[in-house]
Amino acid sequence: MIDLYPVVGPLLRSLDPERAHGLTLRALAAGLVPSVRGADDPILRTRVLGMDFANPVGLAAGFDKNAEVVDPVLRLGFGFAEAGSVTPRPQPGNPRPRLFRATEQGAVINRMGFNNEGLEAFAARLERRRDDPRRAPGVFGANLGKNKDTEDAADDYVIGVARLAPLADYLVVNVSSPNTPGLRALQGREPLRALLGRVLDARSARGLTRPPPLLLKVAPDLTEEDKADIAAVALETGIDGLIVSNTTIARPAEIPEPLRNEAGGLSGRPLFGPSTAVLRDLHRLTGGRLPLVGVGGVASGADAYAKIRAGASLVQFYSALVYAGPSLVTAIKRDLADLLRRDGFASVADAVGADAAGAEAR
Ligand SMILES: Cc1cc2nc3c(=O)[nH]c(=O)nc-3n(C[C@H](O)[C@H](O)[C@H](O)COP(=O)(O)O)c2cc1C
Repeated sequence: MIDLYPVVGPLLRSLDPERAHGLTLRALAAGLVPSVRGADDPILRTRVLGMDFANPVGLAAGFDKNAEVVDPVLRLGFGFAEAGSVTPRPQPGNPRPRLFRATEQGAVINRMGFNNEGLEAFAARLERRRDDPRRAPGVFGANLGKNKDTEDAADDYVIGVARLAPLADYLVVNVSSPNTPGLRALQGREPLRALLGRVLDARSARGLTRPPPLLLKVAPDLTEEDKADIAAVALETGIDGLIVSNTTIARPAEIPEPLRNEAGGLSGRPLFGPSTAVLRDLHRLTGGRLPLVGVGGVASGADAYAKIRAGASLVQFYSALVYAGPSLVTAIKRDLADLLRRDGFASVADAVGADAAGAEAR
């Protein structure tokens, strides 16, 4: 495959970030981005959440808000692709500009505010995909949000679960975007217990033979108490996994003025350390009993490997794609496979939590 990104990337980055994103989606949808052919290295094969993944590297939510490019994304070599966040009703999101690059730092700040075409448009695309024999192999996740003006947040997640449970391989309850007022408060012990109870009931009510696993996506900005509560409620309610983490409201010193003053969530390289620390904590607090998806600042095979060693069974990224382009997927997989072999692991699963206290050193 000829990698055009060294030419196309700087052009895209010379544009307004949201316009560049729109062009990228159009190029993917039009089939202008070449597919990666050939099977994945077998060492990357992994079984998580009762599903087989050809590799553990996925696209994080927010890139494909409306499930428009699921198959083109999977054809870039991702083992799984997550679309959304989708809200029951369409909504425009926050006024522009709302997406900012910190190129030197490999970071992004966004306050998109769940701009999306709504659940019906999202579900209709998935129905067409379900009936398309040419759809790409790979696991598909649907990430659910709430409309800004919905009073009882659980109502919106219930609507999302009811509509998408038959159409997605897994579902995500996203309570960690910093750009919807009040959303992150749902991570507290009691609100979370109530929310997850209702969402799990909605999933059961569909009466599916194989209901999709349900994951909760959390913020990196959590107190010790928050983390303990999330781990306890996750285990007690019986959800299937956690995605750790969303963007941060923190502004590490390296993010320069005036950019650091933009409201919103920060992602990319500066998020790697904080999000991996929360991942490690949640792995410990859940006793390794719950599959974790590690996301935040992954930009290399070594980063993906570090997330896995900290407790992730799967990893995702988004921001690094802006800076490195689609060939990064192949590079991450190659380097991850090399690192696993170098350290004597026979599989991804073998390395999960290797850095946790008490794990045998390798
Ligand atoms: C522009 C943008 C939009 C995002 N939108 C969503 C979203 O709708 N739902 C969600 O759960 N996460 C969203 N995220 C967060 C990412 O899924 C991911 O958790 C975060 O960016 C950290 O990963 P990264 O450092 O690899 O980008 C968004 C991130 C960015 C940069």
